[in-house]
Amino acid sequence: MSRTIRIGDHMDEIIVGKLNPTKKDLKYSVFLGKEKENQKSVYVDIDDSHVMLICGKRGQGKSYTMGVLCEGIISKMKKYIEIKENLSLILIDTMGIFWTMQSPSKNYNLLESWELEPEGYSVVVCYPYGIGRYKENKVYSKYFHLGFSLRPSELVLEDWLNCLDIASTKPQAILLLKSLKKVRDERGIFYSVDDIINRVEKNSAYDDNVKLALINKLENAKSWGIFSDKGLFLQELIKPSQVAIIDLSLLSHSIRSTVISILCKKIFDLRSVARVSEELAKIGEDIKWEKVPLVWIFFDEAHQFVPKTGKKKPLSAEAVIKLAKESRQRGISLVFATQQPGALSDEVLTQCDTTIIHRITAKNDVDAIGEKISDVKMTDNNINIIDYLRNLPKNPGYALIHNDLTENLISIKIRPRISRHGGSTPKLSELAEEQKGL
Ligand SMILES: Nc1ncnc2c1ncn2[C@@H]1O[C@H](COP(=O)(O)OP(=O)(O)OP(=O)(O)O)[C@@H](O)[C@H]1O
Ligand SMILES: [Mg+2]
Repeated sequence: MSRTIRIGDHMDEIIVGKLNPTKKDLKYSVFLGKEKENQKSVYVDIDDSHVMLICGKRGQGKSYTMGVLCEGIISKMKKYIEIKENLSLILIDTMGIFWTMQSPSKNYNLLESWELEPEGYSVVVCYPYGIGRYKENKVYSKYFHLGFSLRPSELVLEDWLNCLDIASTKPQAILLLKSLKKVRDERGIFYSVDDIINRVEKNSAYDDNVKLALINKLENAKSWGIFSDKGLFLQELIKPSQVAIIDLSLLSHSIRSTVISILCKKIFDLRSVARVSEELAKIGEDIKWEKVPLVWIFFDEAHQFVPKTGKKKPLSAEAVIKLAKESRQRGISLVFATQQPGALSDEVLTQCDTTIIHRITAKNDVDAIGEKISDVKMTDNNINIIDYLRNLPKNPGYALIHNDLTENLISIKIRPRISRHGGSTPKLSELAEEQKGL
């Protein structure tokens, strides 16, 4: 049965994701845009843990909206020290478009019409440690700050097989398993890819062809630029007040999924341990622990990492689904953006409590969203939700927003970005005119 509950009727603002909000709740919520019909300001709650989905067709504003949410959270961290000390934000950037948040937007007229000021944000942009150009070039290194790295020991056999594209039934897989075991026995967690190669070479039980094929793949792994004893380890990204953009755009799909899988597992473990310590402190136990802040993790192009079952699952799927299912108790919030909600794992879709829907038209995507929020109707009339999805204005930036708790659906215009959006299409005319001006 359809149900409509108006939220925020007693307030000039709407806070999505908060039941019975009061003015006080505005401190823990971020400004997203204006309701289309009556121009009420729409905020999103960041007090509780949330799992959010942002979906829509190509170019409709998903990454832009993700940027708006990030800006909102960073602004709160800047304004309130108590928020800053208890929060961290990680944005997994597979397209390499979010580093531009460091520069203010130049969309002055649009910002002025919304009474907003342009601003660049202080974020830490992390890239694979071995990408020399980011370290060595003075201009790049102004915007790309820290190389992150993995220890080879952080990868389990399954990670290696995935990255090296080796089927688990192949002799290469068994040889790798034995070599990893040996090297671990000899060196604990401190070994390099060369140490694994050495171990493979020394194994006399295998045919030279098998050894050579595996060694070639391991040699190639060194060129990915992610294995090092130096650099920042992924767990160091979760620090109070840290806003980290992890640029994975230069890595192949399977390596990105390995990095995401390891990152998600680490965040899960860190927050799980912290949660116990937080509770112990609350019941008065004298316990000292290293503070692990609550964390918001943003995934752009999420269907690549948690696709629907039936397709070949990337390694990241299991870790991300686990996070989605068990994030709330651990104080982890997740935001997934995707062009294809119909291609996203149902296990993630069902966990999303807040859905921001830009224009979509493909039948299976409309169906996936329609199914997710079929139990609602618009606040002011009775039109079918599927018609609303099809009929959203064609200009980017319009969306419907739905929250499971309050079960209502609001049509909104997302506010303009305050910092520079890096995802716009490069236009030939703009490049040509710039060149002419040189
Ligand atoms: N709220 C908004 N206000 C003004 N312009 C917007 C808004 N949202 C999006 N746009 C414009 O639309 C363009 C495309 O947005 P965006 O890069 O977020 O698309 P997308 O949905 O992520 O596309 P893709 O699926 O290709 O990644 C932006 O470059 C921007 O110019
Ligand atoms: Mg995008």
